Amino acid sequence: MSTRTIHSLLVAAAALTGACAASSPDSEGGGEASAQTEAETHAAETSACSRYGGPGEVGGVVSEHIVPALTGDCRVSAMFTSLPEPAQVHLVECLTIQVQELFACEGASYAGAEDSTGALCRDMVSAHAGLGITNGDFDAVIEDIVAGLQAAGISQADIDAVAPAVLSTRADMVEVQTDALSNSSCG
Ligand code: HEM
Repeated sequence: MSTRTIHSLLVAAAALTGACAASSPDSEGGGEASAQTEAETHAAETSACSRYGGPGEVGGVVSEHIVPALTGDCRVSAMFTSLPEPAQVHLVECLTIQVQELFACEGASYAGAEDSTGALCRDMVSAHAGLGITNGDFDAVIEDIVAGLQAAGISQADIDAVAPAVLSTRADMVEVQTDALSNSSCG
């Protein structure tokens, strides 16, 4: 992935921060409304998203840690680096929304989400159809995602909490039942 692409991904992640930011509490409100806002604020603070600094920081985990783990892994990197740049940006923006939803960032919802150009983030079956993804590819990507989360300082407990949702997508993506890699450039 080019430096320019990485830069545009970081810009996109910053833009997504705004898209997912929680509505600000009404500081002038009193009584019941204020109490409700406090309760909502408290609930939001306890989400994994809040504990890791909010949607922007969680989005940064994708662009700064998960993407480098994927593009630096010769087992699967070619699958991603061979995409045209707009498709790379689209993928990272959509993956960012997925991770923000996994971390319970307020307002982040993958189903029906769009990238910054308005292109729909596809469901996992549609997005991966015809790519010939193997079980070996899937395992490698999972390892890279976990490595990225660990490098970002996400606790093992929080990784374990999101693991079932991520792992449950295997059947949506794997088309070839083999542990071999489909597009390795490891040499
Ligand atoms: C749990 C694991 C995975 C997650 C969460 C994930 C997530 C995503 C997302 C969000 C997109 C963008 C959807 C869209 O285009 O609208 C995407 C596309 C893509 N994914 Fe995955 N993916 C996973 C596994 C894999 C694996 C194992 C490979 C292959 C090694 C792979 C290769 C690709 C490619 C090449 C695209 C772009 C397809 C295109 O533009 O036509 N993904 N993925």
